[in-house]
Amino acid sequence: MKQTLEKITKEKTIKWPDFFNVINNELFILEENLTKKLPAKSLLLQEIVSYIFKAGGKRLRPALCFLIAKSTGEITNKHIILSELTELIHTASLIHDDIIDSANLRRGRETINSLWNDKISVITGDFLFAQASIRLGELENTEIVKIYAKVLSDLCDGEIEQYSSKFNPDISWEHYLNKSTTKTASLFSAACKSSAILNNQEKKIINQAEQFGNNLGIAFQIIDDVLDFTSNSKEIGKEVGTDLKQGIITAPALFAVNSTDIRANQIKTLIENRFNNGSEEDFDKAIRLVHELGGCEKAKQLAYDYIDKAKENLDFVKDGDLKTYLSKAGDFILERIS
Ligand code: FPP
Ligand code: MG
Repeated sequence: MKQTLEKITKEKTIKWPDFFNVINNELFILEENLTKKLPAKSLLLQEIVSYIFKAGGKRLRPALCFLIAKSTGEITNKHIILSELTELIHTASLIHDDIIDSANLRRGRETINSLWNDKISVITGDFLFAQASIRLGELENTEIVKIYAKVLSDLCDGEIEQYSSKFNPDISWEHYLNKSTTKTASLFSAACKSSAILNNQEKKIINQAEQFGNNLGIAFQIIDDVLDFTSNSKEIGKEVGTDLKQGIITAPALFAVNSTDIRANQIKTLIENRFNNGSEEDFDKAIRLVHELGGCEKAKQLAYDYIDKAKENLDFVKDGDLKTYLSKAGDFILERIS
């Protein structure tokens, strides 16, 4: 096994953040499994799946799964399976999300829906969900099956909640945070929780790992929402400025809408009027108001608060180095540009 790992290490030049070095070997195995071992019989499916996973990705959820495994015992074969199924679900949900958003760019490459079409994208996403289910079965752990079944249900819930509240500037913070929890944090918390479960940890530790993942996941979504206002397509590998245009009210816009400044009403009206049926001028004005009213800075601060909360959940990690790595995973989320 070791020889194979070394070979893989030499052949691949994937750049992980420095503190992921401690889990380098496992990340390489994961990469091998994702790029070479998905058993599609259809040549078209093989081609698409290979296209998707060769585009890379941060593999943040698998990394968390491995770091929690190390913090609670050993990284076992089952943790490799857990990380793989988590990445499969994440990728499948992005493929479906790109259909819903009519997105053209993901991870710096054309989306499946734009290179092929929506119908093929639906099936590819479903195939990856099915592959994840097969891996889930291989874990032979009904507690984890229940956790991941709930994640799938949460992902749909969060996504449809977002869809059905488009162009509604009156959504509450509770609504935004609930949606972010179901749409995004649920998979982070499931990966961290299940990783601790596989190492037969006591309930208190499992709960802390779950809370850590949940707070990290909410911060991740808030930063993702900020990047949509502040980044560019080249840096982030996907289209930007699309959330508000589609009427999705995320943290920066929500801060602007709820500001005590008189201009809060202006942005509210612009959203309610759907930017005067899509006028570029009105949309640009709304974006400008979000910036002027400090929406992005305030949202970043909110993400920092969630990362602080996540770090407070790390009492269960006794090894000082691993505690630092997990903390840095939080900082990585805050500092990420893609
Ligand atoms: C990306 O969010 C999307 C998600 C985190 C989840 C999407 C979930 C679904 C489409 C439902 C999944 C379906 C099944 C069958 C379980 P984003 O749009 O905020 O991120 P982006 O900017 O990267 O697109
Ligand atoms: Mg999207």
